Amino acid sequence: MKTLVTGGAGFIGSHLVERLLNDGHDVVVLDNYSTGRFANLAHLAVNPKLIIHEIDINDHATIRPLFEGVEWVFHIAALADIVPSIQQPFPYHRANVDGTVSVLEAARAAGVKRFIYAASSSCYGIPDQCPTAETAEMRPQYPYALTKRLGEECVMHWNQVYGLPAVSLRMFNVYGPRSRTSGTYGAVFGVFLAQKLAGHPFTVVGDGTQTRDFTYVTDVVDAYICAAQSEHSGVCMNIGSGNTYSVNRLVELLGGDVTYIPKRPGEPDCTFADVTRIQQLLGWKASISFEEGVAKMLEQIDYWRDAPVWTVDTISDATKEWFTYLGKS
Ligand SMILES: NC(=O)c1ccc[n+]([C@@H]2O[C@H](COP(=O)([O-])OP(=O)(O)OC[C@H]3O[C@@H](n4cnc5c(N)ncnc54)[C@H](O)[C@@H]3O)[C@@H](O)[C@H]2O)c1
Repeated sequence: MKTLVTGGAGFIGSHLVERLLNDGHDVVVLDNYSTGRFANLAHLAVNPKLIIHEIDINDHATIRPLFEGVEWVFHIAALADIVPSIQQPFPYHRANVDGTVSVLEAARAAGVKRFIYAASSSCYGIPDQCPTAETAEMRPQYPYALTKRLGEECVMHWNQVYGLPAVSLRMFNVYGPRSRTSGTYGAVFGVFLAQKLAGHPFTVVGDGTQTRDFTYVTDVVDAYICAAQSEHSGVCMNIGSGNTYSVNRLVELLGGDVTYIPKRPGEPDCTFADVTRIQQLLGWKASISFEEGVAKMLEQIDYWRDAPVWTVDTISDATKEWFTYLGKS
């Protein structure tokens, strides 16, 4: 089968590409390397079934012919950081909303059989209930979350109006090898692993009792394959581990000293996916335990050797706008 992955050179995308190739599919990758990198795919590049195009998904005229003959489209490409989205909402809208429409139109023109969208649990903002079901109110707290939600609305709209067989998968906190190490202050795993390598204390936000639904990347990739193989469309589904884990528990598993930084506005105390829907519709369930997943990360800790090592001061500087804009109310 011919498949296409936007954002295939990124963290989640590169794992999906690996899985599709292992399953014997042809894979076309579209990536502009804005946050992804060729190195994430280098080990697969010798495979003649993989074709990588360095291209922006908004370059519609050029990407359109690349969808010819494609049966499954996985739209993973996006700008995916919180603080830069607050500082520069326009490029976020361009990549995540306009970019999604560009990919949807190319997929529609090619008559693809399945369209899978990488949505984000950030659409729930600070939810009233944990575990959080897909029916919860949409409450994006910052431009990244808003643009991912708008992208999802476009995907559902293309399903409704044009009959595009599309599903949206709302991922919670995905972790695993190759998670991004870009200059931006971001996901807790990358921050902590670089700190551990440097012998610095872990910068724990608040008192560390907040919990996150950490889901291992190969489990997420399994869910993508199940979604592509299924007949369901026009539906949003949560992807989560089936549990939620405190930052303190993560620290305990990683082992190391701790220093505390202020709690940030706009962040929930708990993220926890209600996975009833995806279990019922796709029969999917996460299989990697948190303990197993963290052990795998520690085995591959060298990947984070070049990642920025954040300190209390550099984090305070990098998150200034977060407090300025989200802390108003
Ligand atoms: N990592 C998570 O925990 C998580 C959780 C929920 C949702 N998501 C979503 O999953 C997707 C992948 O996230 P990730 O963590 O792998 O991030 P990532 O930054 O590693 O991957 C994103 C990829 O998209 C590419 N890209 C960005 N803009 C592009 C454009 N205009 N044209 C072509 N390529 C472009 C980047 O170069 C990168 O390779 C994103 O859509 C993100 O919103 C991630």
